[in-house]
Amino acid sequence: MGLLKGKHIILGICGGIAAYKSVFLLRLLVKAGAEVQVVITPAGKEFITPVTLSALSGRPVISEFFTANTGSWNSHVDLGVWADAMIIAPATASTIGKMAGGIADNMLVTTYLSAKCPVFLAPAMDLDMMAHPSTKRNLELLAGYGNHIIEPAEGELASHLVGKGRMEEPENIVKAVEAFFASQCDMAGLRVMITAGPTHERIDPVRFIGNYSSGKMGFAIAEECARRGAEVTLVSGPVSLQCVHPGIRRVNVESAREMLAAAEEAFATSDVAIMCAAVADYYVENQATSKIKREKDEIPQIVLQRNPDIAATLGAKKQPGQVLVGFALETDNEAANARLKIERKNLDFIVLNSMRDKDACFGTDTNKVTIIDRSGVEKAFGLKPKSEVAHDIVNHLVEII
Ligand code: CTP
Repeated sequence: MGLLKGKHIILGICGGIAAYKSVFLLRLLVKAGAEVQVVITPAGKEFITPVTLSALSGRPVISEFFTANTGSWNSHVDLGVWADAMIIAPATASTIGKMAGGIADNMLVTTYLSAKCPVFLAPAMDLDMMAHPSTKRNLELLAGYGNHIIEPAEGELASHLVGKGRMEEPENIVKAVEAFFASQCDMAGLRVMITAGPTHERIDPVRFIGNYSSGKMGFAIAEECARRGAEVTLVSGPVSLQCVHPGIRRVNVESAREMLAAAEEAFATSDVAIMCAAVADYYVENQATSKIKREKDEIPQIVLQRNPDIAATLGAKKQPGQVLVGFALETDNEAANARLKIERKNLDFIVLNSMRDKDACFGTDTNKVTIIDRSGVEKAFGLKPKSEVAHDIVNHLVEII
């Protein structure tokens, strides 16, 4: 299915006999198109050689905090940011205990504590160690922290005893990780067009009418949709933001009329349009072609003309099956005004921002929104980072689709 293609995966290997299976696991991950960085504990190296692992992964294996004689160190923080997933296989009782207790005395556990990505653990140990209350409690704690435990299988163990403790087979570990990424791809196959940022309406070649929109909310929604598998076209006004996800197609525009043209073109082949941009209501009809000079007898007058309503234009063209989402920024009678916009622009739902909420507007990294749908049902959310607000909005979108 290609779910692991291009994914950055940290493969953590601990000191257990099952480490020999980690070589097969590494091979499967690389074959699936993942970029794999192996981090091995000092005990792990007693079971499997870093030479084999670096040859298969194409990257030097990391084990120590410092690289001998070079004065350089391995940054667990950078690794934690780089990774899309971390798989610890085999996870020994000792490492599981350290992870549960936050004992960062080696590179693997330190990296785990820095990782923001989903973490999968495939425990492997003797049956009595596996059944010990401390192991059970540590695994429960780790599961409670949101880690994914890939339960060990029953069978003959290295000790020749038979019981639960065999590390799950590499094929099944890969399947578990793929299943996780598949569950995150609930927008696969959907084409989404998003408008973001302000528009600039030129007065002359050096001046414009604009607004304070930073584009952060629209960009966060674009990243969220792309991460969940959608094909995203982001029509952006002038902002100083970069797209992170490589799959986002960005179309840069300046004025509302340029934004309309780009949005209409993309909407024709889209399943969803999310109108996040703060579009200027007017453009300058008597735009000057050269810079307006100060030393003039008469004070220049700016003649304004109404801009097209992009959301309403798309709303009028909306086909059955297409979903149109709008935003409303209000200062008074917020919910009532937002409901009027749903009707006027033929939206499926609207995301309401109130200018009265602190830290929930232009330029901030946080937002506080209420989603109102056509039937008038309201869902209010608390103040959150814009990435989490994007998650809530996209969850609602996926629900109605
Ligand atoms: N919108 C648009 N094109 C415009 C104006 C607004 O696509 N010319 C979209 C916005 O992106 C947003 C929604 O319409 O999704 C509501 O925008 P808002 O500025 O709140 O509403 P307006 O229609 O401009 O109404 P008002 O300024 O009177 O509140």
